[in-house]
Amino acid sequence: MRGFPALIGRSIFRSSSHDLRSTHPTATVAAAPPLLRRIGSRRGLIIQTLSGPVRIERLSDSDSGIIELKLDRPEAKNAIGKEMLRGLQNAIETIGNDSSANVVVVSSSVPKVFCAGADLKERKLMSASEVQQFVNSLRSTFSSLEALSVPTVAVIEGAALGGGLEMALSCDLRVCGEESTFSLPETGLAIIPGAGGTQRLPRIVGRSAAKELIFTGRRISGKEAVSMGLVNYCVPAGEAHHKALQIARDINQKGPLAIRMAKQAINKGLEVDMPSALDAEEECYDQLLETQDRLEGLAAFAEKRKPSYLGK
Ligand code: COA
Repeated sequence: MRGFPALIGRSIFRSSSHDLRSTHPTATVAAAPPLLRRIGSRRGLIIQTLSGPVRIERLSDSDSGIIELKLDRPEAKNAIGKEMLRGLQNAIETIGNDSSANVVVVSSSVPKVFCAGADLKERKLMSASEVQQFVNSLRSTFSSLEALSVPTVAVIEGAALGGGLEMALSCDLRVCGEESTFSLPETGLAIIPGAGGTQRLPRIVGRSAAKELIFTGRRISGKEAVSMGLVNYCVPAGEAHHKALQIARDINQKGPLAIRMAKQAINKGLEVDMPSALDAEEECYDQLLETQDRLEGLAAFAEKRKPSYLGK
């Protein structure tokens, strides 16, 4: 069986540590330390920001545990250039280090677009080796997003193109509005999807559908995306965020350590043969046996009340 990464709890917001609460994404690209600034607070929402066009918002009260990661580069339709990439790296690292995070909702603050993919204007000025470095960084950043220990839900309203779609594919779940469009248009630019798209798309929709989409670069609608399993839900335009929040709230009610172990068991198990996969499941289950939350779940059932989980 393949080894498990060390489970390290470290919070920058709390002094306590919980072994299962967070894992550190592998950062293969040097990223500046996250610049966190509490910029405001209103009922149910504490806003914190990172430098650059990526914001983090922490929900509070009954939604405490839900983190929103928002893309906000309107002038370029959230195209990913160097600054946006650094913002993403910082945001992902911050969330990975936050033991209070239970679920992440990834969305866009820019109307009618999730993300237009790589910044093609910046790309035009890069040498081949700079392009290589950038694409490698983007690939490892999306791998870090995928490797977050907590579930991630992408909210797509509008265009998710190229690297934008690859970012959504790195999330655990995807919810879109009906007017969304999806495409991996890279072959039309004489390149290939290079931030995980050639690998994640076939794992999600199957190899034949993925090949057709990558070979042709065809844009598909939200309805087609849901019919091929590319997104979990396609809802009326403008309602994707609301739907994603409902899902996040459902997840946020569950045993937080169990959710992490479920994600880990599924992700590890899918990469190995069945006997090793079942070993992975056992190892994840074992980590829950001695938790207070497991006993709380049983007590709440016996007492016919809602469980109150502490993540311990
Ligand atoms: N990189 C850099 N700039 C981009 C961009 C990208 N990937 N996508 C959009 N922009 C810029 C446009 O050049 C334009 O800038 P300008 O005002 O200086 O001309 C601005 O964002 C607005 O784009 P526009 O095309 O006018 O908006 P739209 O609402 O009509 O369409 C998109 C939005 C995202 C559908 C469209 O811009 C598009 O198809 N972009 C290309 C996406 C792509 O091919 N990505 C794959 C990369 S591999």
